[in-house]
Amino acid sequence: MQICRSTQDMRAWREGAARVALVPTMGALHKGHLALVSRARAWLDLQGGGQVVTSIFVNPTQFGPNEDLDKYPRDEAGDLALLEQAGCDAVFLPTVDGIYRPGAQTHVEVAALGRMLMGRLRPGHFRGVATVVTKLFNIVQPQAAAFGEKDYQQLTLIRQMVADLDIPVQILPVATVREADGLAMSSRNQRLTPPDRAAATVLNLALDQAVQMVAQGASLSTLRRQIRKTLQAQPRAQVRSIDTRDADDLSRVQTLVRPVVILLAVRFGDVLLIDQRVAHP
Ligand code: PAF
Repeated sequence: MQICRSTQDMRAWREGAARVALVPTMGALHKGHLALVSRARAWLDLQGGGQVVTSIFVNPTQFGPNEDLDKYPRDEAGDLALLEQAGCDAVFLPTVDGIYRPGAQTHVEVAALGRMLMGRLRPGHFRGVATVVTKLFNIVQPQAAAFGEKDYQQLTLIRQMVADLDIPVQILPVATVREADGLAMSSRNQRLTPPDRAAATVLNLALDQAVQMVAQGASLSTLRRQIRKTLQAQPRAQVRSIDTRDADDLSRVQTLVRPVVILLAVRFGDVLLIDQRVAHP
């Protein structure tokens, strides 16, 4: 597995690879990330072969001033061992200065999708995501890139950005991987205290109930009331947002007639967890 620590090294390696699928990550890898690597590999196999590149970069521009950038888990040696086992071909491990040159003035902003929902809770977050993903696409020049459905708004926004800017990268969505008790895998789970870790299963419980309610024809107001009730029954859960949006473009819905995505953001201690599920009426 080739390790590239600079843009120059990455570009030199890329010149020798005919077809590449990229897995952008911020490290602290778990089975959810490995599912992205498998999806990238499966896509390449269907195209007749190619190389999987994983990027590991804790992107400072997507963290707000009071967020957990300093506490974000980092484990380079563990990540490299997992990627090697998973059959990844190359890893891009740039430094902050390597990605953000002093004096840079350009950023990428996906207007409405970047400001709604999690963008309201975390101003500037999606501008940081869109900018770094564009830079990674320009450096690695992949034909495809895998993103998890767990970060549903991020996935929707990247699809929009790629379409708006005619970026020739196919976006491969990957279903959320869950722990045995249903908690969506996330690098942030490591920061939960044991009681918060146990309490966090309430997210999956609320989503399971919601999916059933939508299938049984519940109204939007009943659905929202029940989700809030289930989450609030867990005293450790601090509900930040509950949203029900159109599953394609995240526009607001008044009735449950088309597939919707239910998006939850809940804090446990100082850890903000998100989870989502698409529900079909
Ligand atoms: O989903 C993530 O891990 C990050 O937001 C991403 C896409 C790697 C950009 O920093």
